[in-house]
Amino acid sequence: MIIVPPIKCQGIKTRLVSSIRAHLPEGDFVRWIEPFCGSGVVALNVQPARAILADKNRHIIALYRAIQQKSITPGVVREYLQQSGERLQQDGQDFYNVVRNRFNTTGDSLDFLFLNRACFNGVMRFNRRGEFNVPFGHKPERFRPAYVTKIANQVGRFQDVVTRLDWRFDVADFRETIAKATADDFLYIDPPYAGRHSDYFTAWNEQDERDLVEALQKTPARFLLSTWHHNQYRSNPSIEEHWQRAPFHTRLFKHFYHVGPTEARRGEMTEALISNYRFPALAESDPVYHQISLFGD
Ligand SMILES: C[S@@+](CC[C@H](N)C(=O)[O-])C[C@H]1O[C@@H](n2cnc3c(N)ncnc32)[C@H](O)[C@@H]1O
Repeated sequence: MIIVPPIKCQGIKTRLVSSIRAHLPEGDFVRWIEPFCGSGVVALNVQPARAILADKNRHIIALYRAIQQKSITPGVVREYLQQSGERLQQDGQDFYNVVRNRFNTTGDSLDFLFLNRACFNGVMRFNRRGEFNVPFGHKPERFRPAYVTKIANQVGRFQDVVTRLDWRFDVADFRETIAKATADDFLYIDPPYAGRHSDYFTAWNEQDERDLVEALQKTPARFLLSTWHHNQYRSNPSIEEHWQRAPFHTRLFKHFYHVGPTEARRGEMTEALISNYRFPALAESDPVYHQISLFGD
């Protein structure tokens, strides 16, 4: 069973955790280093004993540190969401705006959690001034008791892991985080995609992509990078431009996702895993095996 983290973000890898886990290097590593941790769902499920989880988005890191330091607990979350949920039910959009304005002034981590769940489509987007600007999801009834319990439990499970293991959360640019890795470390790399979901924290340009390729060519650590390869409409230009040229291993696999609010529309995406080590052989009995096509491996 996949453990779900307490926040949602664009590009979250919940559905890809099994495929990523099946492609981790054989043998031990000292530290798991993740320069683009986002929701942290991959580390949360792999549960390395030591980890540095970093992201440029200071709000994610602040929330995760607060959970680790126990200033935010499942009980605190439950009480806060119950109270805020009641206010949302009474005042709808007006209350959502109060919380959003407050968050954009104070950066409060509980408000961040609330906005992440009450906003439109559960996305995370910040304007050029770094302010959260996603509109209200128009579900004033959202925080029903079962939903509050579900989020409090997600916080609880996350807290169990981050207090038991030796994990550190950093606000940092990826260049700084990758530079910390030594030959004994493992890097899991999940960068933003150029031209998609771009906002204050996820803006990504050609120079960033070039710097990432260069940092990964130089790193003494083993790394695994996940990115999209193609769908029925287009291919990721960066694969040919940057990743295929470098002396890395690539493995492709298909992944299905739902498009829009109905269950009926299914999209198919081919994902790429890129590494600087030989991928482990997969047994045919592994469910991931059947999604894979080999390419340049
Ligand atoms: C594709 S998401 C990672 C998703 C994550 N693997 C998950 O499953 O939730 C990319 C993340 O990179 C972060 N990011 C964008 N630019 C960055 C940079 N220059 N340095 C560090 N983090 C950055 C974004 O804030 C975002 O959380």
